[in-house]
Amino acid sequence: MHDILPADQPYWERINQVIKNLARAYGFERLDTPILEETDLFVKGTGADTDIIEKEMYTLRTKGGDQLTLRPEFTPAIMRAYLENGLSGLPHPVRIYSVGPIFRYERPQKGRYRQSHQANFEIIGEKEAVIDAQLIQLFFAMSKELNLKNLVVQINSIGCPNCRPAYRKKLVNFYKNRKKELCLNCQKRLEQNPLRLLDCKETKCQRIAQEAPQIIDQLCGDCHNHFKNVLEFLDEVNIPYMLNPYLVRGLDYYTKTVFEVLPEGEEGDSAEGGARQKRQIALAGGGRYDGLIKLLGGKDTPAAGFAIGLDRIVNLMKEKSVKIVQQKRPLVFLIQLGDLAKKKSLKLFEELRRAGLEVASSFSRDTIKSQLKTADRLEARFSLILGQKEVLDETIIIKEMVSGIQETVPLAKVVKELKKRLRK
Ligand code: HAM
Repeated sequence: MHDILPADQPYWERINQVIKNLARAYGFERLDTPILEETDLFVKGTGADTDIIEKEMYTLRTKGGDQLTLRPEFTPAIMRAYLENGLSGLPHPVRIYSVGPIFRYERPQKGRYRQSHQANFEIIGEKEAVIDAQLIQLFFAMSKELNLKNLVVQINSIGCPNCRPAYRKKLVNFYKNRKKELCLNCQKRLEQNPLRLLDCKETKCQRIAQEAPQIIDQLCGDCHNHFKNVLEFLDEVNIPYMLNPYLVRGLDYYTKTVFEVLPEGEEGDSAEGGARQKRQIALAGGGRYDGLIKLLGGKDTPAAGFAIGLDRIVNLMKEKSVKIVQQKRPLVFLIQLGDLAKKKSLKLFEELRRAGLEVASSFSRDTIKSQLKTADRLEARFSLILGQKEVLDETIIIKEMVSGIQETVPLAKVVKELKKRLRK
């Protein structure tokens, strides 16, 4: 788990602002869920045979005996909130977004943290392919706003309960005779979750996967058309994508479309699961999950969504030296000399701030020289100097930092005077 230091905060502020604006523009409303949920929610929702549930949950038992888990992802928590709070009674589709930390007990490395942060988007109650494409479009709108270039979508369809069982059978048949050639993880997957055989990062397993039957050839008519439509919508909005028949993602709820967005030329990381020999830096991942709401006790409701890994977006912005344009407001630095002035300056600071001025001050026992130095470092346009004499005269000195010109004005008029000068 890592700290987010002051130097990085401008990146986070910018990203959060872009996400907030885009969410509103695309019709999403914000929903915040608690960080802790009952463990069973994720076991059921994310899926018992996934890496997240098998290895990565932070789970604790409370004094009352409840078993709780720090959310490893948003999706099941959002669906629980949707069902519990009557959102299922609203006109559909319901568009929900969330921003916050997720927790996965993973091997930490650059871009992979035990506490990371996601912006998560879900569209509930819409089965049309246009929705899948719009989610991807939303990601690209964000990357454009943040000046991130050369990103590509990897996309696949993993079918539905109508066509997947037959494909699964075919896949197991194909792998049965080659079990001994697989890594130990994949030998286990063959029993538990055979689709995950396709996204193993071990070279020997990848070589075998290349010969395996591909689900795209086994999709039922409905899934085939749906996928074709998603791709046509992406073509329409000029979003660059690559078909990746090995992309299955490691969460159990997906049906039909699955996708990840990566910087061009990088390896995908299939829902953060699998062996991790290669650099894995998907910036976002998601897909359709038409069966999850019913599985969690709701009505049969189609849905799709995705999550953006915000820590990775920050890393990429820094790597690519993306500049953050910060609107700098003209700064006023308040200098005080002597006990009397210090007493007065606390009140004055608050008055200036309330008048809408951006004020800074050191409030320590510093000399005028060191306080002026701080004002210079902060690139303040004006310093206000309040000494013993000024307090007694009820005046204050305004010093223009660049020219060095200073003038004494009545204390009661300082706000008006500053505002006048700042307008120039
Ligand atoms: P996910 O692929 O597990 O999907 O995570 C989405 C993104 O979160 C990843 O592409 C990555 O950028 C980021 N991420 C995940 N784990 C870490 C980590 N340990 N360190 C840094 N970044 C990480 C989901 O979570 C699904 N709930 C997405 C979704 C929403 N599907 C449908 N709706």
